[in-house]
Amino acid sequence: MRDLLPPVVAVAVAGPDDWSGTLLPAESACLSDRAVESRRRDFTAGRMCARRALAGLGLPAAAVTSASDRSPIWPVGVVGSITHTRGYCAAAAARATDVRSVGMDAERHRELNPGVRRAICLAEEEADLARLPTGVPWPTVVFSIKETVYKVWHPVVGTWLDFHDARVTLDPDAGTFTARIAPARLETAPLADPPASITGLFAVDADLVRSAAVLGLR
Ligand SMILES: CC(C)(COP(=O)(O)OP(=O)(O)OC[C@H]1O[C@@H](n2cnc3c(N)ncnc32)[C@H](O)[C@@H]1OP(=O)(O)O)[C@@H](O)C(=O)NCCC(=O)NCCS
Repeated sequence: MRDLLPPVVAVAVAGPDDWSGTLLPAESACLSDRAVESRRRDFTAGRMCARRALAGLGLPAAAVTSASDRSPIWPVGVVGSITHTRGYCAAAAARATDVRSVGMDAERHRELNPGVRRAICLAEEEADLARLPTGVPWPTVVFSIKETVYKVWHPVVGTWLDFHDARVTLDPDAGTFTARIAPARLETAPLADPPASITGLFAVDADLVRSAAVLGLR
């Protein structure tokens, strides 16, 4: 993820030991007693990465807990994002004096069935994708970007975004994207200046699709 985010954002990617690391008590309390082993490992790797990202900012170790909607609660003055997908996990953190929000997402390559694909991509996006080179899992790229967009949007605005509430355009050569937020979501946002568009970077690796974005200061 380092390649997708600016230098003011500290990034950590999980190594083999992170999946069985030791959580801080406040973090353990966020995990349900009924959490299955894979959820425990994902959550743990995310917190280990979060701690390293905080250290990368020169900040002391602090618990990154979860709100009831599962969004991460970073220490005061920090914004950040966590992603995990089958054997891959990363966290990013930045000082709130440098960026307003950061989001990122990683997905394993996969075929999306037609129903899922329709739920994620707008018809205009499908038309765009049909013109792109074959051999790249473009719907998964759009899916990852939209999850990144939500992770940027939600901590700042606090409202839900459906997958059809963002219109994503890609520049496959530059590896950049722009997501324009639906006017209806902007009008009903409980903020004077919700972000009308979110731009970022994406990458398609051998078996992983990654995307990330930051929202600059006002
Ligand atoms: C929140 C969401 C994006 C997380 O995606 P996911 O498939 O679980 O995948 P990831 O592993 O990449 O991300 C999980 C992490 O996201 C973070 N997260 C959860 N809710 C979040 C929120 N509201 N805002 C920011 N980050 C959030 C958490 O840190 C979580 O990890 P943790 O529970 O271990 O702390 C997804 O569950 C979701 O609700 N999507 C629907 C909304 C959406 O994406 N709309 C598209 C708008 S264009």
